[in-house]
Amino acid sequence: MSSRWTGDVLHGFSEAAANYNDIAMLQRAVAHRLAGHCSRLKIAPGFWVDLGSGTGLLADALEANHPGQRVLRVDGSASMLRRHQRGTDTACIDLSHGLPYWPTPPNLLASSFALHWLPSPAQRLNQWYGALAPKGWLALIVPVQGSFRQWNAAASDAQLPCSALPLPSPSDLLRPIPPTAIRRCSVLRFTQRSKHALQLLKPMMQVGAGTTPTPKQSISSLRKLFRCWPREGPCHQMALTWNILLLLLQR
Ligand SMILES: C[S@@+](CC[C@H](N)C(=O)[O-])C[C@H]1O[C@@H](n2cnc3c(N)ncnc32)[C@H](O)[C@@H]1O
Repeated sequence: MSSRWTGDVLHGFSEAAANYNDIAMLQRAVAHRLAGHCSRLKIAPGFWVDLGSGTGLLADALEANHPGQRVLRVDGSASMLRRHQRGTDTACIDLSHGLPYWPTPPNLLASSFALHWLPSPAQRLNQWYGALAPKGWLALIVPVQGSFRQWNAAASDAQLPCSALPLPSPSDLLRPIPPTAIRRCSVLRFTQRSKHALQLLKPMMQVGAGTTPTPKQSISSLRKLFRCWPREGPCHQMALTWNILLLLLQR
């Protein structure tokens, strides 16, 4: 994917920065979960970084769990970084070309809901792992292939292309990582339910995560898609399931 792609992605998130914290409920819950995992690890203090920090949900949770520890918040969107609390450390960096040079290698690289927006996520993850200090930790949350099965089923029934963002597969992500580095690797499933699929897709657009490589769909295509969206469970609701990889690596 090109720098045009990155520009579109960052533009989408910048436009949504002001409202992100009010809408990003899944991202908030998952950031707290990842920070909880980090607080149970023996991570050396020092240089800690949140990659693709957005408004700082993960960095804030990490700092709250580790009083005195500062977390550098890295994002390509200046508008997102402007939402961080005063006095926090931020850096506006486009991560699609890799990490910048840091004189001190990080003891923690954390990232939530950001890696899948970068071109070649497996290559990026491998570089992040290689940048860690000896014994340093990489704590990652990323949505993966297998997500949005209801959306894919509806698109297939409606004979439309599925406009969901293509997501990396766990096996592709892990291929370059030495198996001995993997301390935890699990796929968590989160299902959101609503009377109408529009209410499931709307928050994604509102947090700025609406950029997709497929052409924009017409209103009539969207209506067709929603008519084909499967209904599930005793209440016959529409649902959207996320498969989210939780990965803890130690160098
Ligand atoms: C869904 S948000 C996640 C934000 C935060 N980690 C959270 O969990 O709330 C994805 C973030 O990745 C950032 N991002 C996407 N592409 C990027 C790139 N090429 N370089 C740096 N940041 C990028 C966006 O600006 C956005 O803030």
